Amino acid sequence: MCGIVAYIGKKEAYPILIKGLKRLEYRGYDSAGISLVNQGLKVYKCKGKVSDLEGFAAGKDISGSVGIGHTRWATHGEPNDVNAHPHFSGNENLAIIHNGIIENYDSLKKELIQRGHTFKSDTDTEVLIHLIEDVQANENLPLAEAVRVALTQVIGAYAIAVLDKNDPEVIIGAKKGSPMVVGLGKDEYFLASDATPIVEYTKDVVYLEDEQIVELRPGHEIKIRNIENEVLTPYIQELELHLEALEKGGYEHFMLKEIFEQPKSIADSMRGRFHVESSDVSLGGIIDYEQKMATAKRIIIVACGTSWHAGLVGEYLIEDLARIPVEVEYASEFRYRNPIVHEDDVVIAISQSGETADTLAALELAKSKGATIIGVCNVVGSSISRITDAGSYTHAGPEIGVASTKAFTSQVTVLLLMALRLAHKKGAIPESRFQRILAALEKIPQQVEETLKSAALVEHISAEYKDARNFLYLGRGYNFPVALEGALKLKEISYIHAEGYPAAEMKHGPIALIDEEMPVVVIATSKGSYEKVISNIQEVKARKGKIIVVVTKGDKTAAELADHVIEIPETEEELVPILASVPLQLLSYYIAVMRGCNVDQPRNLAKSVTVE
Ligand code: F6R
Repeated sequence: MCGIVAYIGKKEAYPILIKGLKRLEYRGYDSAGISLVNQGLKVYKCKGKVSDLEGFAAGKDISGSVGIGHTRWATHGEPNDVNAHPHFSGNENLAIIHNGIIENYDSLKKELIQRGHTFKSDTDTEVLIHLIEDVQANENLPLAEAVRVALTQVIGAYAIAVLDKNDPEVIIGAKKGSPMVVGLGKDEYFLASDATPIVEYTKDVVYLEDEQIVELRPGHEIKIRNIENEVLTPYIQELELHLEALEKGGYEHFMLKEIFEQPKSIADSMRGRFHVESSDVSLGGIIDYEQKMATAKRIIIVACGTSWHAGLVGEYLIEDLARIPVEVEYASEFRYRNPIVHEDDVVIAISQSGETADTLAALELAKSKGATIIGVCNVVGSSISRITDAGSYTHAGPEIGVASTKAFTSQVTVLLLMALRLAHKKGAIPESRFQRILAALEKIPQQVEETLKSAALVEHISAEYKDARNFLYLGRGYNFPVALEGALKLKEISYIHAEGYPAAEMKHGPIALIDEEMPVVVIATSKGSYEKVISNIQEVKARKGKIIVVVTKGDKTAAELADHVIEIPETEEELVPILASVPLQLLSYYIAVMRGCNVDQPRNLAKSVTVE
């Protein structure tokens, strides 16, 4: 959470920073601010979005070719103008932006107050810049060294950029636990939380590792040191990101664009990874660990939110196809409950961003206990992808809408390929079943395209239920995680309370909620427990609930019982979650739009949750 961006070079910094902040706004949008070196240090910041900051800065002096910018997701201190970043040091010679949490800020603050510092905001970040100022003044150090020494006293996570009025030709960056990438241009440098603000200026980037400090001075080579003050050689990589992927491309919202991108994103997730003719699946990233995975006593999947739902589908797939026991854990619970992890366990982390703090910490814990750790991430070069022993990227392309859509279907696709690969290696499923699933998988992008044609129908259904106060989503087997995911999508972007339930569990409690006011979405596709789901639909109907069913094309029985019917093409049971989640994404999208909600930036949420 929180996005940071910085520029130093010959161009005007302000437009670069504002554009960069708009790209990073998915990381938080409680407040925004910039600082520019311009005959001293100027700071402009306010509560609200980057567009509010633009309004605030309009007419003010925004010249200068060195600057830092921040978009905030509040942790310490409510979202207001004062707590917005950048923060000044006490003497206003230094300005800082920060993503992360300084855990020992309270004790540091008390010490600094004793030494005469006074604070304007409630933030941990202001404490850090006062600490840097304190070190700089007491030890008479240049900025880079003062930052390094100050950071040796800090417990917590940070990605920071610091400006110094008295040394206006330099930006100092540092990171631990929060991401930071440096862009290397001609006589100019960029620094940001991810590469999206950088990609249109340069493709040469350096991803900083934890506890590294970078000194950016145009006309000089990039300088990186670690917290122990050892000089390091930068590893320059070429970005594989394309600018078009970051634009809305004619869609009203990123979320809608990303929903409609799924035929392509799913095809990209499976590209080159299987061949129907030769009956072969291969995932290059895990090839050296396949044996370990196939013989693991247990696989533990750790993830959060939507990625956790993909993990549940993964559990069903891996157990069903490869016959390896799987447990799926919320990363936030796993990391704190003293779990039993053996050296012969394999832990798979699923994460779109690859930066989720709880997932990262769960992996570190598993690693410390000797387990093999595997990643299923979307963002290339992300923190999770870098600490894992091996992994398979989902290749869904940048996902900017805060509600995850195409990342989910790509995660499920990769988990299916993983399950198939392990099943094949173990000889756990008959060749005929293996081939049937591969043949069905090949058709999936085209079938998602077909499913998307139901958008107008789903929009029509949405109009009828947009004012509902509650929704229930039911599914069994492979469709249970789809029900959970459908409910999460609705609540996060439309703020309607929604519950996902295994259909058979309904009678153990939630059935009490059903009346004529309650829309119930049932995923009732033809394979698996179809007849049992039909009975569950009957139970809802008997209590006058409004029934919206997602069924296999041509279905008659469920369709006759329901108020509304959405059809998806026929496929193998293992692949249904990919198709069935698409109309549920559309349902949440249209309802949220009709309720006037900010679909791409729902309240209180941020896309990359880098705090616990
Ligand atoms: C929901 C959503 C979140 C994320 C969760 C994990 O639409 O996007 O629930 O799935 O914050 O994020 P990643 O996958 O980046 O680890």
